[in-house]
Amino acid sequence: MRVTVIGTGYVGTVTGACLSYFGHRVTCVDTDAHKIEKLRRGEMPIYEPCLDELLRLAAAQGGIDFTTDLAAPAAESDVIFIAVGTPSLETGEANLCYLEAAARSIGAAMDDSRFRVVVNKSTVPVGSGNLVEALVREGIRESHPGDLKRIQFGVASNPEFLREGNAIGDSLYPDRIVLGAEEERTLAIMRELYQPLVAQSFEAPAFLPRPHGMGPVPVVTTTLTSAEMIKYAANAFLAVKIGFANEIANICERVGAEAPEVMAGIGLDARIGARFLNPGVGWGGSCFGKDIQSLLHTAREYGYKSMLLEAALEVNRAQRQLVIQKLQEKLFILKGRTIGLLGLAFKPETDDLRDAPSLHIAERLLQMGARVKAYDPVAMKACRELHPALRIHYCESAREAAEDADALVLVTEWQEFARLDLRELANSMARAVLVDGRNLFDPEAARQAGFDYCGIGRPQRAPRNGAVPVANHELAR
Ligand SMILES: NC(=O)c1ccc[n+]([C@@H]2O[C@H](COP(=O)([O-])OP(=O)(O)OC[C@H]3O[C@@H](n4cnc5c(N)ncnc54)[C@H](O)[C@@H]3O)[C@@H](O)[C@H]2O)c1
Repeated sequence: MRVTVIGTGYVGTVTGACLSYFGHRVTCVDTDAHKIEKLRRGEMPIYEPCLDELLRLAAAQGGIDFTTDLAAPAAESDVIFIAVGTPSLETGEANLCYLEAAARSIGAAMDDSRFRVVVNKSTVPVGSGNLVEALVREGIRESHPGDLKRIQFGVASNPEFLREGNAIGDSLYPDRIVLGAEEERTLAIMRELYQPLVAQSFEAPAFLPRPHGMGPVPVVTTTLTSAEMIKYAANAFLAVKIGFANEIANICERVGAEAPEVMAGIGLDARIGARFLNPGVGWGGSCFGKDIQSLLHTAREYGYKSMLLEAALEVNRAQRQLVIQKLQEKLFILKGRTIGLLGLAFKPETDDLRDAPSLHIAERLLQMGARVKAYDPVAMKACRELHPALRIHYCESAREAAEDADALVLVTEWQEFARLDLRELANSMARAVLVDGRNLFDPEAARQAGFDYCGIGRPQRAPRNGAVPVANHELAR
């Protein structure tokens, strides 16, 4: 099929690469000429493992190209995806200006040569499918009013569930595909588009083999409104689940229980599940915060106050502050102290800094008069460019971030940090304080290496004889 994807961000580029890898002919469109130039040169505008390899294969399969001009590819396409950003406004409401502009341009580019499906992949509030339909019509009316009756199209909602850092794996081997539409004709085109994905009939790329035992991908077919709601409900649930783990961890710390052990004990209950139960410095990223804000805004519009979702935001804010409290407990005075941050990205394997806990922690420390050094394997360039006012001293390595520092804070659980020589780090510091914000390290090993260690939900006490400490990152996988 002929496909256009509007927006070459984390979602659009990955969607375009995968669809083209399945054999569809894809054009990716963005208003950001700089991004398009990079993609044309084969350079990645974002850090996402395996994306460059998949794009190379995609070019040889269905074919993929990049442009700033929407009109020509949209006119030729059977399916047009909208994958533009939907950031929060001050009120918490989703900013739909990019979506609205894209929908109008699609209308302007349409003719009556075929039936097309306009697919909303951006995360949008309930009712946005109707809005897209209205705006496409407006686009048609404005540019060729005489054709309004003859031009036919359907609107679908196809929310995206990929996790940055694992986006290609999540897109090639998803848990489910959600398709929301009001018309069978629209759904039939979407089923045809995703047939290779649903049947898993494509050849798995050598660098990312198909998970053992994977069968056909379940397709959940719904109304437009339900599909839009599914995306918000999924993100809200995951954020609440992490918030719950953080609350239990805070209680564990007070009563002398080990949070990772508690999470292992509850996570094995099939009704609960072990993933997203890792206590830490709180969630971040471009989605959870903005999507909960947007859902709360929608609920308010309908006269409903969601106490649970409001609490999820509050718990997360407090969790970021916990790092500062732990540093104060260890060092008393933060003014004039040097704090080394390990990790800046909101999670490992991405350069995305949107709503990253590291930014909040660095900002608070700087406000309190501390000096902040930081090392991140990939996100330092983005941090320098996007947050020039943040007076962070960027380091070449974790060792440099630790050198002469009064405390180290593990903010992002990059696997390379798990392999650090803790003794060497501790020896190089002015004071060997380690706040392990993701429970990445074994507390005993850290203490034996010379660190004054504290994790999240891990009270300071000697382990029982024979007890096997559960590392948090083992539970996360
Ligand atoms: N990033 C994720 O992990 C993720 C996961 C699931 C869903 N989502 C949702 O997907 C959507 C996109 O997220 P993202 O992270 O890819 O955003 P992004 O900011 O990385 O990319 C959006 C892109 O859209 C482009 N754009 C804006 N207006 C345009 C227009 N009129 N025409 C062409 N291009 C335009 C921007 O230049 C930008 O490159 C959001 O609604 C987000 O909530 C994101």
